[in-house]
Amino acid sequence: MATKTIKDVNLSGRRVFVRCDFNVPLKDGIINDDSRIVAALPTIKLLVEQGAKVILASHLGRPKGEKNAKYTLAPVAEELAKQLGQPITFIEDCIGEEVEAEVAKMGEGEVLLLENVRFYAGEEKNDPEFAAALAKLADAFVNDAFGTAHRAHASTAGVAKHLSPCVCGLLIEKELAYLGDKTANPERPLTVILGGAKVSDKIKVIDALLEKADTIIIGGAMAYTFALAEGRTIGESLSEPDFIQTAQSALAKAKEKGVKFLLPLDNLGVKDLNFGAGTVGDSKFFEGNIEDGWEGVDIGPKSIELFSNEVKSAKTVLWNGPMGIFEIDACNKGTFAVAKTIAESEACSIIGGGDSVKAIKMAGYGDQVTFMSTGGGASLEFLEGKELPGVTALDQI
Ligand code: 3PG
Repeated sequence: MATKTIKDVNLSGRRVFVRCDFNVPLKDGIINDDSRIVAALPTIKLLVEQGAKVILASHLGRPKGEKNAKYTLAPVAEELAKQLGQPITFIEDCIGEEVEAEVAKMGEGEVLLLENVRFYAGEEKNDPEFAAALAKLADAFVNDAFGTAHRAHASTAGVAKHLSPCVCGLLIEKELAYLGDKTANPERPLTVILGGAKVSDKIKVIDALLEKADTIIIGGAMAYTFALAEGRTIGESLSEPDFIQTAQSALAKAKEKGVKFLLPLDNLGVKDLNFGAGTVGDSKFFEGNIEDGWEGVDIGPKSIELFSNEVKSAKTVLWNGPMGIFEIDACNKGTFAVAKTIAESEACSIIGGGDSVKAIKMAGYGDQVTFMSTGGGASLEFLEGKELPGVTALDQI
């Protein structure tokens, strides 16, 4: 079964409720990263060209079911109008008679953005009444909010019960293709690089990808739990002793399945790390064991070489999670080196969302990879093999 997409239907002249993920980072009303707005444009443009009446909805932040000016979508409306090159009507609510009256005035090819759906508690509760009130605005449903597709909320899933057709937009279609099909049936070898702080956050992804990958590379703080599982010492590095057995099982499963499983050969250890100030004290590299009093914060040059060689021979690369504390200059070499190797490789390169997208952009290679996911939690859940409620709610063919 496959999810019906916007390409399978003609929505010309119809009122279309389009759920986007405009949950963009904002500071003092300024959008710091417009990736999610840019990613939503192809679907919106297609609907405008078809002559649909485009009713956009999104959440922004976590306003906990109450109206809160801090979380208004007004800055998004402004930026979106600029990028779309046409005016957008922004309404300071998302349900009710006034909104319905504005929608009734819409002409074909016009675009309207509703205010934050999370200003109502019914959104996150997937309240049937709230879903019905949203659905009342439209005839058809296009879900293009990949970043929120792991949430069974009123605007991502509930509205589907009332509208027809219910299809995914071009962004969700692309996300499913890269994080799904291209990793399930990859051009081989498929090398997966996983990082981040916790084994507990990524173990289900590791488990799922052990079924698909030829090589799995582990970096970031979660590698220290794997180091403990191999009987090495890790000094003061972050680890999850409760997950040592889990790490041992993953290592055993990799062996059984013939999946190459690579852990860092060396690490950068530091003293007096101050995350807030972005500084570290003394630093030195450790091969194997890390001594007491030192905290591992990045992979070392030997690991960079090992991991880079593996990436160079891959035909498909999937990356999720940094190799170290890349937000601090002194600890970003490993993450940025991995970003560079991926950017320079000829492989199909898929960046699985969240921190790795942030890192590859900081390293200056954001435009040199095949695909960057717009999902954080959604990407992880999808890579774990979980169904996404925002996708299963749609028409299947
Ligand atoms: C995200 O930024 O990951 C999505 O927009 C989902 O946001 P949420 O975690 O607040 O549901």
